[in-house]
Amino acid sequence: MIRIGILTVSDRGYRGEYRDLSGPAIRELVVERLGGTVVSEAIVPDDRPAIAEKLVAWCDESGLDLILTTGGTGFGPRDVTPEATRDVIEREAPGLPEAMRAASLAVTPHAMLSRAVAGIRGRTLIVNLPGSPKAVRENLETILPALPHALELLRGEKGADRHPDSMSEGRWRSIC
Ligand code: MTE
Repeated sequence: MIRIGILTVSDRGYRGEYRDLSGPAIRELVVERLGGTVVSEAIVPDDRPAIAEKLVAWCDESGLDLILTTGGTGFGPRDVTPEATRDVIEREAPGLPEAMRAASLAVTPHAMLSRAVAGIRGRTLIVNLPGSPKAVRENLETILPALPHALELLRGEKGADRHPDSMSEGRWRSIC
C-alpha cells in the first residue's frame, strides 16, 4: 500500500476564502492511477516554517511514502514552498521537476516559472506541484509512470542491495 499525504499551500485556502480544488485533483489521480491511499490532507498558509513543520511530521512521525504539495512554487513574494521543501529534504530528486517542466513547456511557456523541487527525507518522497488544478493534473500525469519504481527503490524493495562490483549489465537491466 502506498501511503500518501496531500499538502495544499495557500494563504487564501488556509483562511477559507476559496475552496481547494487542487488537493482533490491530486487525490483523484493518485487513487485511480497509483492505487495509493491518501492518509493525510491539510491546508497550510504560504509560511516557510508551517510548511516545513507539516512535511517533517508526515515524514518522521507518520512515515508516509509520498507527499505531494500544491501551490507556492511561483515567483510571488509569498511563494516559498520550494524553500520549505529544501529545508527538510536530505537528498534532492531533480529529475522529477525537470521532467514536469519539460513536459509542461509543451503546454504553456509559464511552465518555466515553476520553481518546484522534489526530494527525499528518510523513506518519504516529497514532490512540489504548482497551484492550479489544471497544472496539478498536467504535472502529475508526467511523473506518475516513474512513481511506483521510485517508491519501491525508496523502500529498499528493489536494487537496495546492489553494489557496483556485483552488478552485471544484465542485472542492471532487470532492476531498471
Ligand atoms: N504547468 C502546467 N503543466 N500547466 C500550467 O498551467 N502553470 C504555470 C506553472 N506550471 C502551469 C504549469 C504557472 S502560470 C506558474 S506561475 C507556475 O507553474 C507556478 O505555479 P504556482 O505558483 O501556483 O505554484
